[in-house]
Amino acid sequence: MRSTRRELLKLMAATGGALTASGLLISRTSTTSSAADAVPVADQMRLAPLVTPFQTAMPIPPVLRPVSVTSTTDTYVLPIKQASAEILPGTSTPVLTYGGTFPGPTIKARSGRRTVVRQVNQIADGTSMHLHGAVVDPANDGGPMDLIAPGASRTYTYTNQQVAATLWYHDHAHHVEAEHVYRGMSGLYLISDSNEASLPLPRGSYDVPVVVRDIGLNEDGTLYFDHLFNSRPQILVNGKPQPYFQVAARKYRLRILNGSNQRPFEFRLSTGDEFVQIASDRGLLSAPYTTTSVPLSPAERADIVVDFSRYPVGTSVVLKNSYFPAPGTEDIVRFDVVRTADDPSSVPARLAELPPTAAPTATRAFSLEFDDTTGDGTINGKLWDENRVDTTVRAGDTEIWEITNTHPFIPHNFHIHLVDFRVLDINGKPPTPGEAGLKDTVRVQAGETVRILVSFKYPHYGRYYYHCHLIDHSSMGMMANLDIVRA
Ligand code: C2O
Ligand code: CU
Ligand code: CU
Repeated sequence: MRSTRRELLKLMAATGGALTASGLLISRTSTTSSAADAVPVADQMRLAPLVTPFQTAMPIPPVLRPVSVTSTTDTYVLPIKQASAEILPGTSTPVLTYGGTFPGPTIKARSGRRTVVRQVNQIADGTSMHLHGAVVDPANDGGPMDLIAPGASRTYTYTNQQVAATLWYHDHAHHVEAEHVYRGMSGLYLISDSNEASLPLPRGSYDVPVVVRDIGLNEDGTLYFDHLFNSRPQILVNGKPQPYFQVAARKYRLRILNGSNQRPFEFRLSTGDEFVQIASDRGLLSAPYTTTSVPLSPAERADIVVDFSRYPVGTSVVLKNSYFPAPGTEDIVRFDVVRTADDPSSVPARLAELPPTAAPTATRAFSLEFDDTTGDGTINGKLWDENRVDTTVRAGDTEIWEITNTHPFIPHNFHIHLVDFRVLDINGKPPTPGEAGLKDTVRVQAGETVRILVSFKYPHYGRYYYHCHLIDHSSMGMMANLDIVRA
């Protein structure tokens, strides 16, 4: 089924139909003019030509330094401000940032230790920072209407009562989150724990964040923004266009985040060689998964270990994208093996003990619908309404959520705040080992039904959210409210 749909997309690309197909991945605002819709979008935009790949070194986002450290708490200051970034070589692009960098700085947290993030909103819009994947109370979850007004400040507290995982923070201010995140408002948040620290995995400078996203740049270097998929043809990694990264001939842990608003990726090595996936969204897998590809929809994470000792010094290996690779989006980052190095690291056969699953007491169905005529993305037929309670669950309960994407070719995904979940099956088939660990976002491809097992096991109560994480969709209403009540 999957490959049939992919063939369809390829066919549409070949015949020029891709513009129509991707035009359907858009907002209501973009569908107001049918005359404009008739014109291929690329003809309406003056996008800068794509950068020749591998001209720029891949930077590592800076690690944020705490302003204070006590025995229990690390405190950070992270102003929200406009800045400029050199995305195209020699050109400065105005961006919206956390702390002035594009993407934002990485926050390193430790399981069980408190992290406090103080923000001052120095931009013209209200903002709301959500820590995606965090086990956190509603007051610190960064809800869509829980805004930091322009000029105001806000403190978020994270208790990090969860296992080691690659999380990320991003704006969630309703209706503008897609544009805010697109313009730069996101960054990584890495939680470590004692189990992970006890494993001989690659660490330090061999543990490398790889934040992949797409973007559309005007010829003058400013960002082009609409809710269209095909207006974002330029791939960036850690804020730079299709960079290169010099590596030693040894193992590296790559923490891959799909930080795109809408673009799904499937990552492979140009050699076709295997690598080892060790973690998914919410932590280490129980055992390493040897594979040749890792698919990630927006907001999903995968940590992989690539062994560059297989390649002689002087060779290069490219991380490629094989998911609907529109021209120019095939190349992600080129790894240049430039030196040898000792490698005391290894990937043990057991990585983590996943929490036991409980028996479900209820099943709920969610339908992800996209109306081609109105451009509305809905969940169970409804656009998001802050005043409506969509789903109420009792803390402590375990449920099966059955999520169906009704569209013939538009992909969606599904994210729930607070909880992690397990994927039971996809169209009745078990997930790959790479998708069988702890997840908080799951792909729901066109026509698919995905069943997940969700335990509402955390001692937090109140208003949370679930939504499609193609955030152009959620920012237009493909989101719903989840109230967790005391049992
Ligand atoms: Cu990453 Cu509600 O979002
Ligand atoms: Cu989230
Ligand atoms: Cu969607």
